[in-house]
Amino acid sequence: MYRVAAIGGDGIGPEIIHEGKKVLDAAGERFGFDIAWDDFGIGAERYLETGELVTEEELKDLSRYRAIYFGAIGDERVTPGILEKGILLRIRFHFDQFVNLRPIRLLEGVPTPLAGKGPADINFLVVRENTEDFYVGIGSRFHGSQKTTLCIERELYHAIFNLDIVSDAEELAYQIGVITREGAERVISYAFDLAVQRQKKLTSVDKANVLSDVYGLWREVFAEVAARNPGVSTEFTFVDAITMWFVKNPEWFDVVVTPNMFGDIITDLGAMIQGGLGLAPGANINPVGTSMFEPIHGSAPKYKGLNVANPVATIWAGSMLLDHLGEHAAASAVLQAIERSIADGVVTKDMGGHAKTSDVGNYLSRIVLSG
Ligand code: IPM
Ligand code: MN
Repeated sequence: MYRVAAIGGDGIGPEIIHEGKKVLDAAGERFGFDIAWDDFGIGAERYLETGELVTEEELKDLSRYRAIYFGAIGDERVTPGILEKGILLRIRFHFDQFVNLRPIRLLEGVPTPLAGKGPADINFLVVRENTEDFYVGIGSRFHGSQKTTLCIERELYHAIFNLDIVSDAEELAYQIGVITREGAERVISYAFDLAVQRQKKLTSVDKANVLSDVYGLWREVFAEVAARNPGVSTEFTFVDAITMWFVKNPEWFDVVVTPNMFGDIITDLGAMIQGGLGLAPGANINPVGTSMFEPIHGSAPKYKGLNVANPVATIWAGSMLLDHLGEHAAASAVLQAIERSIADGVVTKDMGGHAKTSDVGNYLSRIVLSG
């Protein structure tokens, strides 16, 4: 028996989580375990009513779970950034979910926009650092005369105002990216562990040729961890170049480890080459704490309540959740069922089909149950 926390969130979030629970329950029935779901009413609706994002009380409650099943957040009535930072990033940071694991895998029967590429060519893992970089939330904006009253560190102050381009700027904004040796090392080591299992190659992403402080440190740490893992073949790529290779030669990649923001960007590209955002799952992992499983897409408010959204990314994220709990057979049964449903043409509109969100969930549950 497992207890899992569920946060449907906004837009299509609650519908896709509903289907995900169905399929995971079916997997439990077949493989002999039970999941007790505890729902948390976190999201835009409550924020608009009460001003609460995630409360301290909820964080305490959530800390009792090994897994959170998360739908999506985002709502047109709320200024961009409030829900994203106040809910999603808050949970990732609070629980120190330092790995954001995003499989880029073209399933059998799914069309990819890449000409001449198939499932054998597109099958790699992106390990995105999830707690540092430009996501740390240090930044500010200054207007006109305010500049002189800045109370930021002197070095930073001079660095900014000695730049010709801003010396007489009317308005200025800055944001700081932070990489720590420890932060880089733990996520890079996690990626090396995966690469050891898969026995192919580990690629590190950075932009050390320009952002040489932060990504210089990242690269240095990668080289150090590589030296401790002589059995793994490794390479460095610059982030701009990797976007090109994802499109031209996705078969080159096996495990890709990347700082947070580049990881955000390249996994949307990855989602597209694996057939679209409706098919891209993610796991925010703290190997010794509370992890969170979610589709990488957003809340798609215009499809809310219409029963048309593709639940596959969420169900696949559910398969990752099962893996995380140690239910490996159940996890692969769910993934196989997804492939079967695609082969059988039970797919939603985004994939050219007519199935409703709930049809896909029902169909997958039946396949998972019957084996
Ligand atoms: C993602 C999203 C989030 C991110 C946003 C919603 C905070 O784009 O999970 O990729 O930037 O990490
Ligand atoms: Mn993103």
